[in-house]
Amino acid sequence: MVEAEKPHISSGLEGVYIAESSICKVDGQNGRLYYRGYSIDVLSSNSNFAEVCYLLLNGKLPSSAEFSDFNRQLVEARDLPEGVVNIIKEMSKKSHPMDILRTAVSSLSAYDAETADQSPEANLRKSIRIISKMSSIVATIGRINAGGSYVAPDKSLSHEENFLYMLNAKKPDKRQVDIMRDMFIIHAEHSSNASTFGTMVAGSTLADIYSAITSGISVLKGPLHGGADEAALRMMKAIGSPDNTEAYIDSALAGKQKIMGFGHRVYKAYDPRAKIIKAYLESLQLDASAEVKTYTAIALRSEKMMVEKLSQSHGIWPNVDFFAGPVYVAAGIPPELFTPIFAASRSPGWCAHMLEYWKNNKLFRPLEVYTGQLDLQYVPIEKRQ
Ligand code: SDX
Repeated sequence: MVEAEKPHISSGLEGVYIAESSICKVDGQNGRLYYRGYSIDVLSSNSNFAEVCYLLLNGKLPSSAEFSDFNRQLVEARDLPEGVVNIIKEMSKKSHPMDILRTAVSSLSAYDAETADQSPEANLRKSIRIISKMSSIVATIGRINAGGSYVAPDKSLSHEENFLYMLNAKKPDKRQVDIMRDMFIIHAEHSSNASTFGTMVAGSTLADIYSAITSGISVLKGPLHGGADEAALRMMKAIGSPDNTEAYIDSALAGKQKIMGFGHRVYKAYDPRAKIIKAYLESLQLDASAEVKTYTAIALRSEKMMVEKLSQSHGIWPNVDFFAGPVYVAAGIPPELFTPIFAASRSPGWCAHMLEYWKNNKLFRPLEVYTGQLDLQYVPIEKRQ
């Protein structure tokens, strides 16, 4: 194809706008993040996950009556059908928790009488059920993987408390609840990231919301996206001791490896979520375990080195996934549950974007520049070389 005729290809859709949205503003140049106009700093200091879910789905903070009704729907939806628990049992120890989550969430459609109802009202009700049940599924995956059995939800607890209760079969302490509340809020939404886009692509064909969310979970798993939180902690484990940090990172960069938890397609400044998580991690140091203290020291030395080496030249800074691992370890969460928790946290963001996009739906169908041959002769197999 003559160079002049060749259409512009935006690799990875870099710089391409796909829709208008009033859900989330990611200010990549200044490192700011807003959910429906509220900065992530304000929400992480004052709100809770149920309220942030209402905000993302409905576009405003709820009145106390609206919150009570919404929270009641979330609480009522926490139970898991026996068939879903059996899928989790069957896949436990054989599959990564993200694969179990993807399969279990997909199976929820068999238990929802409204799966095929595409009305906005039914889609909102299904969104609430999905958001509630995804946390129950992740907790149950962690519980069964640890050798326990399904723990029925406690409907007197907040969303964050119940998640930890279903995971550990005991009431959580305040520090654990504060950590989960912060992490659920911080991971709840982030504009048209890969997994939200994957959700929207699936929904743009008018597939049901269970199909769309299953697509989002599949996309989030990759280490270039949500899987980076587990990968970053595994790097810290591999580094082992703070004094090994610089040599390890130097060697990885020399080998053109990506350092997980750093860099971002949109943020060319410090990810505001990483700032909050880092500050939280530093606040935990006083009574942190030796393990958490070691990870923290490695993380801080990694950050210093990466910022010195790559922030000015490549705009590479820590992202939401870098400091998350040590914070989760402080809450007693195993690494293989990090990304499933990210998925459960992001479910309101995925649902909010789907509900918004369906209001003015357009099938996603991009183009490719064809570089192959045309009109080839068909040669019967007996005559081929
Ligand atoms: C999330 O989009 C979102 O909003 C996502 C997210 C959300 O909330 O939904 O914020 C969550 O997914 C955060 C990102 C988690 N992923 C990682 O931490 C994986 C490591 N990061 C990189 O793979 C990378 O930074 C990406 C994938 C995040 C962004 O990559 P881009 O925009 O496609 O850029 P690129 O890979 O083309 O890199 C540009 C340059 C390259 O160097 P050159 O070849 O030009 O010399 O920067 C380098 C890259 O090698 N680079 C890195 C690096 N990230 C980019 N080098 C070392 N370590 C890194 N982490």
